[in-house]
This record gives sequence, structure tokens and C-alpha cells, in this order.
Amino acid sequence: MWNERYAGNEFAYGTEPNSFLVQNASLLTSPVLSLAEGEGRNAVFLASLGLDVLGVDSSDVGLAKAQKLASSRGLAIRTEVADLASYEPPENHYGSVISISAHLPTHARNRLYPLIARSLKPGGVIVLESYAKSQLSRNSGGPKDPDLLMDVTELEQQFPNCEPIVAQEIEREIIEGKFHTGLASVVQFIARKK
Ligand SMILES: C[S@@+](CC[C@H](N)C(=O)[O-])C[C@H]1O[C@@H](n2cnc3c(N)ncnc32)[C@H](O)[C@@H]1O
Repeated sequence: MWNERYAGNEFAYGTEPNSFLVQNASLLTSPVLSLAEGEGRNAVFLASLGLDVLGVDSSDVGLAKAQKLASSRGLAIRTEVADLASYEPPENHYGSVISISAHLPTHARNRLYPLIARSLKPGGVIVLESYAKSQLSRNSGGPKDPDLLMDVTELEQQFPNCEPIVAQEIEREIIEGKFHTGLASVVQFIARKK
């Protein structure tokens, strides 16, 4: 499905970074792991700030476009094709992990998130924005399967060793290509590893 979505020359979610990430980029330190990076808009933005970024995604087509986008701007990013349902990031390694519209099923989130917390160095941060469960009633973007949508309580429970900095569900305008467009209910979560 994702390779099909990314097949054309157009960027499905645009080439501009996610605005919640932009607002909070000053919290990030290298190396940065970007979960479900897609076509590279967020990794390329972080590389432009001088951060060392690894973007992981199951779509080889998306990551090939990510590399092209980086090259077109004279920037370098690292990419890895992998399924996050079985991904094992290294322990105590990352300064930051970002997760922007990375919608995984509950069983995959329950497996992955403790590994993400373990992969952060002490003081490292996770920055996550995803569509909330209440987005289901809207047509402005995001998955239509409720199991792929998130809530704040679940995130706080999944990152018990991280101190929340932002943990909220809000409504905001998201304009990110034709698939994310309009007023949306999102979960925003930033937490620092103790
Ligand atoms: C809505 S797109 C968001 C892409 C990117 N984070 C962005 O904000 O532009 C969701 C991404 O999740 C990726 N994805 C979905 N399930 C995945 C999985 N199990 N493992 C790795 N990537 C996955 C898709 O390939 C797709 O690139």
C-alpha cells in the first residue's frame, strides 16, 4: 500500500516538515531515529539543522525518495528499510526518537515503545505526533482503523521511564499534502528519558 502511495514523483505529505516537529526541534540531539520516515520530509529538515538522522520505514520506494530529497538539498541522511513490528533499535544509543504520523497496530506499539525508551540515552527525548482516536469521525486524514489511532494515557503508560514534557490531545489544522489536510484531532507527546 505504501509503495503504491509513494510511486509517483509527487510527495504524498509534501516536502515541508511536520510543524509540531519544527516547533520542538531545539529539544533534539543526535543521533536521531525517525520512525516511519516515509519520503524524507522530516529527516531532511533535521539534517538541515546539522543532526545525524536515521529514517526507518517499511517502504523502500519512500526511502529512495527520501534519499533523493536529501541529495537535492546537498544533505545526507541515513535510511533503513525495516518493519517496525519487528524492529530492534540499539540500546542506550539515541539522543532523540521522532514519530510523526507513524500509525502502528496496538500490539506493535506495545512491543516497540519499550524498545524505543530503552534505545534513548538518559536525557534523550521522544517527540511524537499522531492522529488521535477522536480523529475517526473526521475526514481530514489518518487511518480509518481505530486500532492504529492513539491516546495520551496509553503513551504515558508505554513510556514509564520518561518524564512527559508535552502530553496532550488537541485539535489543529494540518496541511501536509493531499492526504493530511484540514482540522484534525492529534495526540502530541514529548518525553525525556530519566
Ligand atoms: C502517514 S505516513 C507518514 C510518513 C512520515 N512520517 C511523514 O510524516 O511524512 C506513514 C508511514 O508509516 C510507514 N509504516 C507503516 N507501517 C509500518 C511498519 N510496520 N514498519 C515501518 N514503517 C511503517 C509507511 O510506510 C509510511 O511511510
